[in-house]
Amino acid sequence: MRTSEQSAFGRDDALDHILAGLEEAAAKTAAMFVSIYRELEERPVAPPTDRKTLRATIAGTVREEGVGLTQALAEFEQWLLPASMGTPHPLYLGLVNSSPLPAAALADLLISSLNNNGGAFHQSPAMTTCEDELVAAFAHMFGIDGADGMFLPGGTFATLQAIVLARVRATGGPARSGLRLYTSEAAHFSVARTAMVAGLAAEDLVSVPSLGRGEMDVNALERHIGRDRERGMTPFAVVATAGTTATGALDPLKDIASLCRQQNLWFHVDACYGGAAILLESMRARFAGIDRADSIAIDPHKWFFIPVTAALLLNVHRDVAQRAFATTAGSYIPTDGELDAWQRGIPTTRRSSGLAVWMALRAHGWGTIRSAVKSNIELTRLLESLLAERGFRILEGGELSIACARWQPRLGSPEAIDRLQAAIAREVVSSGKAWFSTTRHAGCTWLRFNMVNLHTREHHVRRLADLLATTASHATHERP
Ligand SMILES: Cc1ncc(COP(=O)(O)O)c(C=O)c1O
Repeated sequence: MRTSEQSAFGRDDALDHILAGLEEAAAKTAAMFVSIYRELEERPVAPPTDRKTLRATIAGTVREEGVGLTQALAEFEQWLLPASMGTPHPLYLGLVNSSPLPAAALADLLISSLNNNGGAFHQSPAMTTCEDELVAAFAHMFGIDGADGMFLPGGTFATLQAIVLARVRATGGPARSGLRLYTSEAAHFSVARTAMVAGLAAEDLVSVPSLGRGEMDVNALERHIGRDRERGMTPFAVVATAGTTATGALDPLKDIASLCRQQNLWFHVDACYGGAAILLESMRARFAGIDRADSIAIDPHKWFFIPVTAALLLNVHRDVAQRAFATTAGSYIPTDGELDAWQRGIPTTRRSSGLAVWMALRAHGWGTIRSAVKSNIELTRLLESLLAERGFRILEGGELSIACARWQPRLGSPEAIDRLQAAIAREVVSSGKAWFSTTRHAGCTWLRFNMVNLHTREHHVRRLADLLATTASHATHERP
């Protein structure tokens, strides 16, 4: 029997009520967890539902009295699971969302139940230590041994923190007019968004033209910087991308690194999507120059197969982080002399999301991720060749796990052919058999397939190619 002193609620029955059925609920959760992994292909990729129906189901379900753990889980299984996106399905080739490694998904439950605040070492000693180990490992992988680092809730936040660091190095503090930040027109939209949040005006962000598959034109970058200096502006940073979202292009990091050194600009690399490819010996040369980065944003929740959200910012300039985020807390926060995360970055309370990465690597090893990345790239090239055989036009030069293809019947205006791609994507997605997006590149709409998936195999890719060919042929004939 608990005494009232043992209960945080002052009433034994309140605590008993919360914990009632815990063992049964944990077993039920475990069973659902296993079935999610074992029965990936038994649910459609995209759920056959709509917002109105779901709203009607969920309306009024949050009340003064709860229904208890067991009932809430039963309702999850009945109402929510069938209406959830099948992101880990082998034919989810969509936005850059991965199928998570099971150890990482299990770690999420433990992170949440222990609820250690990763903002400070003494509130999360074990988890912070695991994160430190990971920061060292990732820094080594990218050739910036000894870099500072921090897990953050998304690549967007990692790039935001990096731009703030670059700005503080340039101005000593807040933004001022005339600062110039450069990124390619093919960069992720989060660069523009975070630049705005970091206090830059729209005209302070210079969009540099891209070439070929979407890689930054370094000559154009150099010209922009030169012109801006002549006009009295203050160039301060370049955000390069190692793996663009639309087409998987890699900016010429080596040349950009040299230019940044020469011009004394902060060199940030958005390796959120493509970073995992550095695990492959065959791809390493394509990352040459990243070891001269001032900061790198990496999303383990993309191609390292960790559940959302786990992003990592590596930063070579610990002193700048200290200067940018130094603050004093009103309450007593013990310290062992080392700077805690809350003193080196934006978050105060911080989820210890690195534990999910640690658990995944400890359980499955780098080798598992390396093999999956390799397989994703090989299967993406296979998809391209199967689609080419079936009459699709392929965007050439793919190196990562993004394939772009276009169905181009001989007749039809460019606008009608663009609409046809969207119609093909809609048709396949609504069948529940596969999920992928479209993208704009070089003035056209393309079907875009992005594999960050542990479960995709050759037979899935072959099935998708056939499905696309049939759908494209029907859509062509049904065109208005
Ligand atoms: C290249 C790239 N950078 C940054 C981001 C933003 O990362 P997050 O969604 O983790 O905030 C994305 C998202 O897809 C991306 O593809």
